[in-house]
Amino acid sequence: MILKEIVTRNDITSLEEKYKLLDKQLKELLNPNDHELSNLSNLTSALKETFKKISWVGFYLYDKEKLYLGPFQGKVACTTIEIGKGVCGTAAAKKETIIVPDVDKFSGHIACDSDSKSEIVLPIINKNGKLFGVLDLDSSEYNSFNETDKIYLEDICKFLVDEILI
Ligand code: SME
Repeated sequence: MILKEIVTRNDITSLEEKYKLLDKQLKELLNPNDHELSNLSNLTSALKETFKKISWVGFYLYDKEKLYLGPFQGKVACTTIEIGKGVCGTAAAKKETIIVPDVDKFSGHIACDSDSKSEIVLPIINKNGKLFGVLDLDSSEYNSFNETDKIYLEDICKFLVDEILI
């Protein structure tokens, strides 16, 4: 078996072009016939390989009224988060993407990793409108995530729900 790999191209510097290349690679990498956890795990790796600005990336999965740590890349993290708490719990409660340019200015931010300075959290909503979990990306630099990240990461979450987690 040939292992699929995420080829990062140093000549591509534009954020949009990086996401466009990643999108193509994800269509090859992720497969609805593979186990859900395997697909989520490879997605976290693909994101971490593609973007040097990411210090931590992973899923918190919704179960029994809480968010539970799922597949991730980076330092060890909190194992459970209450709905409504921290950035992850707030994005889950509101079912809205949250960009945090400076974590110290987000009241209630949960500092799993003291290196984390900015983050973006995206809710993942099933086709039936139910919360599946959240995708959390952290950076050790301030202001690392913007509207372009939001647009493309939301598309990736939609692709995950529509074509992979079925
Ligand atoms: N900072 C997050 C907690 C999760 S970790 O950063 C991995 C939050 O406030 O929800």
